[in-house]
Amino acid sequence: MHVRLGVGEVEVIHVIPAGMTIFEEVHMYILVLYYSRYGAVKQMAQHVARGIESVGVEARIRTVPSVSPTTEATEPAVPEHGAVYATIDDLKNCAGLALGSPTRFGNMAAPMKYFIDSTSSLWLSGSLVNKPAVVFSSTASLHGGQETTLLSMMLPLFHQGFMLLGIPYTEPDLNTTKSGGTPYGASHYAGTDGKNPVNEEEQRLCFALGKRLADIAKKM
Ligand SMILES: Cc1cc2nc3c(=O)[nH]c(=O)nc-3n(C[C@H](O)[C@H](O)[C@H](O)COP(=O)(O)O)c2cc1C
Repeated sequence: MHVRLGVGEVEVIHVIPAGMTIFEEVHMYILVLYYSRYGAVKQMAQHVARGIESVGVEARIRTVPSVSPTTEATEPAVPEHGAVYATIDDLKNCAGLALGSPTRFGNMAAPMKYFIDSTSSLWLSGSLVNKPAVVFSSTASLHGGQETTLLSMMLPLFHQGFMLLGIPYTEPDLNTTKSGGTPYGASHYAGTDGKNPVNEEEQRLCFALGKRLADIAKKM
């Protein structure tokens, strides 16, 4: 049972025999949900999370398991390293979503799409309607599909009723960047060897995107 109290929420966790009820406060959080094979999108997720937390909102960082051509294969429930795997409830109860994926042939990576395809119950219940969301991505080549990936990542989010936010041109880095950064979301040019660090402009744009998301979520 959940009882809404402004931006926060209290959840009944136990009813003790005497009939008394114990409440635990569940803080508002933004879900930073990413997939990263080689680490670039993971770095971006951390900068987005810093932006979210700069306005006092918890950033809950989660990832999704890889998918395998052998569909019966399963990964351990807890990953060996990195963020914990997201659950449907992580998504259902978030105040906003930052979704990150590497670009794969101009589109999001299969593990993230696989997770999104498991969220039909939330679509049926309308649980995600009117939550704010942003997207971010990384590519090996400068013109290898950052914008197509960001835009296509938005499509299932629109179906779920999310309200998509981008980066406004009042962010000065958007006008000067020679690597990642788009009005559709944050992006990073990792290079063909994947070794470009997330540079300062890209970091600031990740931060600005996370901050904007959290600012809007707080107003809702
Ligand atoms: C199957 C596959 C497809 C890819 N397709 C693209 C692409 O279309 N454009 C591009 O620039 N990079 C492409 N890449 C490179 C990744 O987008 C890039 O290395 C990214 O930075 C990886 O992010 P990560 O370090 O978080 O895994 C592809 C990589 C793989 C494995």
